[in-house]
Amino acid sequence: MMIVTMDDVSKAYKTTTILDKLSLGIKEGERVVLLGPSGCGKTTTLRLIAGFVAPDSGTVSIAGESVSRDGQIIKPPEERKVGMVFQDFALWPHLSVKENIEFGLKAKGIAKAKREEQVRKMLVVVDMDGYADRKPAELSGGQQQRTALARALALQPKLLLMDEPLFSLDQELNSRLRREIVLLQEKLGFTMLYVTHNRDEAFAIATRIVMMQKGRLEFDGSVAEAEYRLRQV
Ligand SMILES: Nc1ncnc2c1ncn2[C@@H]1O[C@H](COP(=O)(O)OP(=O)(O)O)[C@@H](O)[C@H]1O
Ligand SMILES: [Mg+2]
Repeated sequence: MMIVTMDDVSKAYKTTTILDKLSLGIKEGERVVLLGPSGCGKTTTLRLIAGFVAPDSGTVSIAGESVSRDGQIIKPPEERKVGMVFQDFALWPHLSVKENIEFGLKAKGIAKAKREEQVRKMLVVVDMDGYADRKPAELSGGQQQRTALARALALQPKLLLMDEPLFSLDQELNSRLRREIVLLQEKLGFTMLYVTHNRDEAFAIATRIVMMQKGRLEFDGSVAEAEYRLRQV
């Protein structure tokens, strides 16, 4: 089952082509890492899948249903069952950990008892149950990222998009969280599209690697194939 399909998706800003007829399919349960240098169009790809921007041409489908096509957003982000985790975490600074995780559930109109149960579950999943009442400023970078993960996963997305989520963390924490993300994905079974420009991070996280260069896909294969290819150049 394809969770997301991009068919010949192009996107330009003014006269600059950012994505050039990009086609990509992601199957249920995959951990796909989109690897490429800064400015190659990775974030734009995620924003197209999430529904924040529309493709100029081409189609984006989620679970077999067209959600954007030829300049038009058919399904808005909140109806796509797609979660997103950002490089800067984007937590609400005035809300506690618990309230941050609860936020999207509330917006979806989920009843209080159900919300609280889900928040409790997510706090345990990301090992943050001792920090429910802290504000983001009172957390370490790793704890902030775990909170952002819990917030995204609380909505039980079909697909989790992660945009350089470990970029701002130090090397040791970066390595530890790579493992945690993989374990969490294996436990919960969500599908993941993870963006990074860091090769080692890509190798540690992916079940499949897609490399991008100037708005085009230039490689799509296993971690072993990607490692082999990158050794050649
Ligand atoms: N809203 C925008 N308006 C104009 N140009 C943009 C916009 N968003 C991204 N770009 C440009 O598109 C290119 C790709 O950006 P992006 O997708 O953020 O790349 P990456 O995430 O791989 O670093 C960059 O040259 C960037 O400056
Ligand atoms: Mg980016």
